[in-house]
Amino acid sequence: MASALPRLLVTRRLPKAVEARLAKAYQAQFNADDQPMSEADILAGAADKDALLITPMDKSFATGIIARLPPSIKIVATFSVGHEHVDIAAARLRNIAVTNTPDVLTDATADIALLLILGAARGASWGERMVRDDRWTSWSPTAPLGFDVTGRRLGILGMGRIGQAVAKRAKGFDMELHYYNRRPVAAELAHGARYHKKLDDMLPFCDFLSINCASTPETRGLVNDGVIAGLPDGAIIVNTARGDIVDDDALIAALNSGKLAAAGLDVFRNEPRIDPRYRGLDNVFLLPHLGSATRDTRIAMGMRAVDNLDAFFAGRKPGDLLT
Ligand code: DGY
Repeated sequence: MASALPRLLVTRRLPKAVEARLAKAYQAQFNADDQPMSEADILAGAADKDALLITPMDKSFATGIIARLPPSIKIVATFSVGHEHVDIAAARLRNIAVTNTPDVLTDATADIALLLILGAARGASWGERMVRDDRWTSWSPTAPLGFDVTGRRLGILGMGRIGQAVAKRAKGFDMELHYYNRRPVAAELAHGARYHKKLDDMLPFCDFLSINCASTPETRGLVNDGVIAGLPDGAIIVNTARGDIVDDDALIAALNSGKLAAAGLDVFRNEPRIDPRYRGLDNVFLLPHLGSATRDTRIAMGMRAVDNLDAFFAGRKPGDLLT
């Protein structure tokens, strides 16, 4: 007799505990070798399924695959808080539910934002390479030197959950906090940060600018020449949100000219095929999209995605429904 369990395609390997839970409650097809699936692979795998569990690397969900999914697909759960890789309007048209995994990665991602602030300012990247490459000849009072973090001014672009968690941590470094958001947040969530109604108004206060907004049509390319020009000379930009919020040409030119002292980047346009010019810059601290990459956080993200699927197939509204 055919199993009554919902049929699910999982496009990447997930933490063991998550796959074990899925294996009990679903007829799940896992991606055993963890190779990113092409659009054709996903369509082939989706052919006999009710649900898809995808990741932010499955970009085809923003570029037309949804219209071609078989009618059996009822829900797409993304293993991420960001959902710019899913065309929500197209999913609505097809009556396909879409869910994400907010909250559970807030702290881990904010921790990485602070790592980028410290790493970019204090030269973690060049310092580490100096030691590894055996180029460290002597402690010196004058070189190489980084920049202070404690007591400096931090502007947060996007005061959602992660921006708020960055503010909370930055307070521990006695930073003077500012934020730009479409709307002010409740005082207890701002951690003392001063609200700016316009991004341009906040820029002169940003010794550090932390990018924490979602990637949307309004924010893509937002951090461009004009925004960088509005920052104080020697400012530092860090990005844990999405690479496409930054105009790479503008950022690289400002890092080369010294307009910006440094940058810390965890996310990139077209990652993992990043703009190769970043690799040649000594004043950037680069990480491979590690925002949510802790064992516990990745398990929590997976469990949250499964909670959403379970709710949906039990006839309840998933907690993180986006459609
Ligand atoms: C997300 O969930 O959107 C993150 O970028 C993954 O780390």
